[in-house]
Amino acid sequence: MAKTIRETLLGTLVHGEEILESIRVSRSISQDKIPVGNIADKKVAALHPERLSLVVADVVDTGKNARIIRFAGADGYLPPFEAGQYINIFTEIDGVRTSRPYSISSSPRQRAYYEITVARTAEGFVSDYMIDKVQIGDRFSANGPAGVFRYQPVFHSKKSLYFAGGSGITPFMSMIREVMEAALDRDIVLLYGSRTPEAALYHDELAAYAEKHPNFKYHLVISEPAEGWQGETGFINAGLIARLVPDYAERTAYICGPQVMNDFCKKELESMGVPAKRIRREMFGARKDIQNEPGWPEGLTGNEVFRLTVGDRVIDARSGESILTALERAGVRVNVCCRSGECSLCRVKLVSGNVFLARGMLRRYADEQYGYIHSCKAYPIGDVVIQL
Ligand SMILES: Cc1cc2nc3c(=O)[nH]c(=O)nc-3n(C[C@H](O)[C@H](O)[C@H](O)COP(=O)(O)OP(=O)(O)OC[C@H]3O[C@@H](n4cnc5c(N)ncnc54)[C@H](O)[C@@H]3O)c2cc1C
Ligand code: FES
Repeated sequence: MAKTIRETLLGTLVHGEEILESIRVSRSISQDKIPVGNIADKKVAALHPERLSLVVADVVDTGKNARIIRFAGADGYLPPFEAGQYINIFTEIDGVRTSRPYSISSSPRQRAYYEITVARTAEGFVSDYMIDKVQIGDRFSANGPAGVFRYQPVFHSKKSLYFAGGSGITPFMSMIREVMEAALDRDIVLLYGSRTPEAALYHDELAAYAEKHPNFKYHLVISEPAEGWQGETGFINAGLIARLVPDYAERTAYICGPQVMNDFCKKELESMGVPAKRIRREMFGARKDIQNEPGWPEGLTGNEVFRLTVGDRVIDARSGESILTALERAGVRVNVCCRSGECSLCRVKLVSGNVFLARGMLRRYADEQYGYIHSCKAYPIGDVVIQL
């Protein structure tokens, strides 16, 4: 029988012939899983399809400028996920094909539906659409579940300290629901920062869990309290953490909320001696006011329009918008998932020109060496040529 490329290559190794003999023997007595059409790959692909087909099964108006949307699998199947992960939902709005990641807030212990909660954003694009236009029965495609913002039993303490700001409560809802509903042996303290008590999402459910479960403590911290508010006020700072969570040093901290809050809480924890490896963070995408990011070039306002050349196309690109958004506006499709610099799917090669690279871009060494950038975190600060 003719040798396969793999067999020919193996044969060139010092012990190649012995290895080939072992393969021949194993094949004669059992099925060799490797060459038989990648059975393992097929099973993984069936459990975790590259694209999900979702159908909106339910929508709930929270009355708090946010909407809960529950997605069922269009073919009845939803892949397993870990509490804290997100799905990236594709939309087509006014002819623009784009996507946004949303954390799953339902418990991973039930997979009849994935629940997400979309908060309204100032000058929002997809969030407005999800809140105002989406109806039961609408279909979407998505990728994921993905993301590493989750409890990792090997590395993390069983005692957790959650810092949530605004809609940043969503991944924590999934984590809290799982621990409470499955009575897991874990201990959670949640510090939830909200402008007003009325704006706090899931408040009643969280208060009910805290009432019932001694391993869950919940503190709502209000930054703009009305007269008569009896609870915690101000920002979540070192003093408040030390007072409400005296055993903070034994806990793994997780932060999810607006970038300013995220950075602030991290600094406060560091000032209390909490090492970086004990602080896990989730970024809800790139900041809108990118011109206020440290290192942004002086003199640029974010409104300058530059030429972005890709292949034979020249696109207008605003300095305050990522290269990914400029490409999507022009109808150019780019692979995408996290939109926050982590997954590297949106990589493009920077052929020439200058870009501003926002913090949080997890670029591989080889990408740096060969000039690849993550387009979701790269902003044009001059005319730019890229290659997809
Ligand atoms: C891991 C992760 C999890 C997240 N989970 C949640 C969650 O649970 N809940 C939640 O509410 N949010 C979540 N987010 C944030 C969410 O993905 C969106 O960023 C948020 O809903 C706001 O989306 P938006 O399009 O309204 O606004 P933005 O994302 O800020 O987008 C507005 C931008 O869209 C672009 N734009 C505007 N108009 C157009 C146009 N016509 N054509 C093309 N582009 C245009 C412009 O650049 C504008 O600045 C998460 C983000 C990440 C990264
Ligand atoms: S989409 Fe994940 S790094 Fe850009």
